[in-house]
Amino acid sequence: MDNPQPQRRDLHFPLDAGRINDWHSRGEHVSQFFNTMSLYFPEGEKFFIQAVRHYRDRVSDPTLQQAVTAFIGQEAMHGREHRVYNQLMQDAGLPAERIETFSLNRLKMAHKIFPPSMQLSMTIALEHLTAIMAAHLLRTPEVLGGAASAPDYVRLWRWHALEETEHKAVAFDVWKTVMPNTLGSYLKRCWGLIQTSWFFWLFTAIFHWKMSKAAHPKESHLRGYLRLFGFLFIKPAAWLALAPAWFAYFKPGFHPWQHDNREALAELPQLVSEVRAGA
Ligand SMILES: [Fe+2]
Ligand SMILES: [Fe+2]
Repeated sequence: MDNPQPQRRDLHFPLDAGRINDWHSRGEHVSQFFNTMSLYFPEGEKFFIQAVRHYRDRVSDPTLQQAVTAFIGQEAMHGREHRVYNQLMQDAGLPAERIETFSLNRLKMAHKIFPPSMQLSMTIALEHLTAIMAAHLLRTPEVLGGAASAPDYVRLWRWHALEETEHKAVAFDVWKTVMPNTLGSYLKRCWGLIQTSWFFWLFTAIFHWKMSKAAHPKESHLRGYLRLFGFLFIKPAAWLALAPAWFAYFKPGFHPWQHDNREALAELPQLVSEVRAGA
């Protein structure tokens, strides 16, 4: 069976600014966990687009070429909507711009010092991370807090997770097309995941703390962090549940669609019409 072909959707997600610090039903620290990840997307996805675009001319398969165009279109739309989301954080007094500038400078450095193949390796690694988070989020409604969370935020995260699923193999297929089938390529791919995962979670922890502290400078955060710990490691174990899928990447014959969760995409038409209708 052919893998799903992604398509660009131009959607807008007007978010309730009043809920920015507390839109998730599991409380502020879980809300800030998602908010922190949102800060990476506008510049991070631009980096992915550049990394894939560099190799675009070497893709001759018309289906993959089309998928690359849709991938670029989807990531651009995600970047645009997360920029609006991130502005709400800045307006609420959170250090969103400072964190985004810090991330942008690290990405600029990576762009300067790493060869295009390493930039593509980092891209497919981060696409794997987003795809496994998306898969868990789509199959476990509690990850977004269920019906008690603010529905506009839930819709934005579900849309992003669905499209990350839809295009999860595009950058990877470009990698397979342009890289030689050698031990060196395999090691470079594995190193990409180790390196990016380490930085991703380290900076997420630091930035999360800065965001939570800025929201409530004078309060104790102990209770909030205990709730976040429960969310990440106990139920729905939003972080711990990712481990098996993370390790699957190290199989020499790995491909993102070996985990076939295309049935999750059945939700897309309904979600798109709800968003277009401004529900
Ligand atoms: Fe994205
Ligand atoms: Fe993506």
